[in-house]
Amino acid sequence: MNAVVDSLERSASWIRQAEPRVNRPFLGIVLGSGLGDLVDELTDARALPYEDIPGFPTTTVAGHHGGLYVGELEGVTVVACRGRVHLYEGQPVSSVVHGVRTLCRLGAKALLITNAAGGVNRSYGVGDLMLITDHVNFTGKNPLTGPNDEALGPRFPDMSQAYDGGLRSALIAEAEAQSIPLQRGVYFGFSGPSYETPAEIRMVRTLGADAVGMSTVLEVIAARHMGVRCVGMSVISNEAADEGQELNHEEVAEVADAAGPRLRALVRGLVRRRDAWWESP
Ligand code: HPA
Repeated sequence: MNAVVDSLERSASWIRQAEPRVNRPFLGIVLGSGLGDLVDELTDARALPYEDIPGFPTTTVAGHHGGLYVGELEGVTVVACRGRVHLYEGQPVSSVVHGVRTLCRLGAKALLITNAAGGVNRSYGVGDLMLITDHVNFTGKNPLTGPNDEALGPRFPDMSQAYDGGLRSALIAEAEAQSIPLQRGVYFGFSGPSYETPAEIRMVRTLGADAVGMSTVLEVIAARHMGVRCVGMSVISNEAADEGQELNHEEVAEVADAAGPRLRALVRGLVRRRDAWWESP
């Protein structure tokens, strides 16, 4: 076994022992900045702090509650990563994707990946929710660089449907049913941690970006490599830098907080509508 598979297996086998509910089919979730409270929706929730899990990297931005949360939502088991490792923390890419790979290794049926993002599309407002239709990996890194481990997935994984059509349709249907406005757009992932300059935002707008952020793209690549379906949602926490507009992290977290209830309602609906996507290929 190579080092990556070995560390995944160390994490996964410890988690299976600690919390046997992960042996059932489950939905995996990654919670972005300000969205961690979604774990409050889980019943019979149990937190496994990251620092207790062998092989699991800890993140400097997760705050006090960083961990894997196992619980039930609408009759289904959910395993949520609260807090994630970002590339800008300086850890290797394998650490950035370790959480997602562990969820895939444990057998996640599908992954819901969330983030806070800057709005690039001029029709977006602060606080909007955006369903990610596709992404551009602008980080300059790829978690699959290096020898490929066939035990995880193929050398050249297909990315033509990185964000699963069935899961997207279920979220769109739920948003319509609940009259929750849901933008749809392309997420550009930068490495950060500096926010973009106005010139960078003009550039990516020309290239087709609707939102920009510092996470998600590497995680989705790693999950697709392992054949797990993904769906992504961004909370538009700010307008991406335009001339004369300053950005700060506190503002980003506050807006994400305010969007929390709408996001939670959609996640619940996604799980309720699982007949539409649970068993699809
Ligand atoms: N740029 C990059 N990442 C972000 C932003 C942004 O404007 N907002 C939240 N995350």
